Amino acid sequence: MGNIFAGKNIVVGVCGSIAAFKVAGWVSDLAKLEAQVSVVMTAAAGRFVTPLTFAALSGNEVHSDMFADRGQERMDHIGLGRDADALLIAPASANTIAALAAGLAGDLLQTTVLASRAPVVLCPAMNSRMYRHPATQANLDRLRHFGYTILDPDSGMMACREEGEGRLPEWEMVREYLARVLSPPQLVGRKVVVSAGPTREPLDPARFLSNRSSGKMGYALARAAFRRGAEVVLVSGPTALSAPAGVRRVPVQTAEEMAVAVLAAAADADVVIKAAAVADFRPAETSREKVKKERIAATLQLARNRDILRELGERKAAGQILVGFAAESADFLAEGQRKLAAKNLDLIAVNDIGGTGSGFEVDSNQVLLVSRTGQESLPQTSKEHTAEMIIDRVVALLAGASPGGVVPGSGCQV
Ligand code: CTP
Repeated sequence: MGNIFAGKNIVVGVCGSIAAFKVAGWVSDLAKLEAQVSVVMTAAAGRFVTPLTFAALSGNEVHSDMFADRGQERMDHIGLGRDADALLIAPASANTIAALAAGLAGDLLQTTVLASRAPVVLCPAMNSRMYRHPATQANLDRLRHFGYTILDPDSGMMACREEGEGRLPEWEMVREYLARVLSPPQLVGRKVVVSAGPTREPLDPARFLSNRSSGKMGYALARAAFRRGAEVVLVSGPTALSAPAGVRRVPVQTAEEMAVAVLAAAADADVVIKAAAVADFRPAETSREKVKKERIAATLQLARNRDILRELGERKAAGQILVGFAAESADFLAEGQRKLAAKNLDLIAVNDIGGTGSGFEVDSNQVLLVSRTGQESLPQTSKEHTAEMIIDRVVALLAGASPGGVVPGSGCQV
C-alpha cells in the first residue's frame, strides 16, 4: 500500500467559522496527496472564505446550493455522499453538529452526510463556552455513537480573544485520522508496541554514549499500525520527532528504562516491534556530578545492557507476533536467520547500514525480511512505505499464527 489518499474521494464539509481559512491549506495538501476533493460549504462558510479559494485549491467545483441546476443526471446531495470514501467536516460549527446529531437535512452539507455511509471525521471549532455547553457535548456523544471520529479541539487564544479549547487541531493529526478511516481496519482491537530511536547511556550529567538512530523507521511503523486501526504504544528513546497522532508515546533515555517500559507494555500486546537501536553497552559507572576531564580514564569501563528483544522472545505469549530489526553491513540473510532463531522472533527486518539509501538518519530504507518460512527483499523506498509493507506482513502473520506461535507457510508471504 503506497499513498492511501491517492484516488480517494474525500468530501470536505466547511462550516462558518473563522478557522475555515485553515482548511484551505488542508484541501491543498489533500489535492497534493492525489485525493479527489469535493468541498461542500455551508452558507455561513462563504462569509469567511470564498468558494473560489476552495475551487482553485481542490481543482474541483465547490458545492453549496442544494438546488443548484447543473443539468446533471444525479443530484449533488446524493451523489457526493454516496461516492465519498471519507467525509471530513472542518471546522464543524455548533450549529452543524446539532443538525447532524438530530439527523437534519437542512442544507447541502447535512444532506450529503445523511446520504452517505462513508466514515466521518469531524473537527469541532468554536468558542470554548459553546464547545463545553452540555448541548454540544451531548450532540458530540451522539455523533460518536453513530461511529463518527471526533477530534478534540486544541486549546489556545481564539479569534474571539478568549483563551480556551475550541481551536482546530494541527493538520498532521487530522491527516492521520483520515488515513486511519481510509485504511483497511486490519488491526482494530489489536495492541501494537513499537520501540524506536536510540538509547542514551550517561557517563555523567553532561556526557553519554549513544548511536546515530533517528527513530524515523520506528515512528513510521507506529503511524502505519495506527492507520490500520491498532492501539499503539511507542516506547521512544530521545529523537527530534514529534509524537505521531493517536499514538501513546512513552519517552525513555537508557536501555534499562526502555527494557522496563517495553516489557510492561508487551505483556498484553498482540504485536511487538523492536525498531530501536538499543545501546549494547553502558558506562560501568555513572557519576552524579560532571567528571573533570583530568579524572576520566583513557579507557572507559563498560557494562553489558540486557538484550530486550531476547527477553521478549523468552516471554512471548502464544499468538504474539515479535518483530526484530538487525543493523548489518554484511551476511544479511545468515545474520537475519541466526537472530530470528536465537531471539525466538516471527520476523526480522535486516537493514543494510552500508548502503547510501538505507539505514541511519536517511528517509529511505532497504530491508531484507526473514521469517521462519522464507525471506523477501523489499525494494529501496521511503521508511513510510517500508513500514506499510512490514505491517502488511505482520497482519498476515497474525492471521496465520497458530497458538504455539508457529507460522504456517500459507500465513506469511515472506
Ligand atoms: N536489541 C535489544 N536490546 C539490546 C540490543 C538490541 O532489544 N540490548 C534489539 C534491537 O532493538 C533490534 C535487535 O535487537 O531489534 C537487533 O539488534 P542488533 O544490534 O543488530 O543485534 P545484536 O543482537 O545486538 O547482535 P550483533 O551485535 O551481534 O549484531
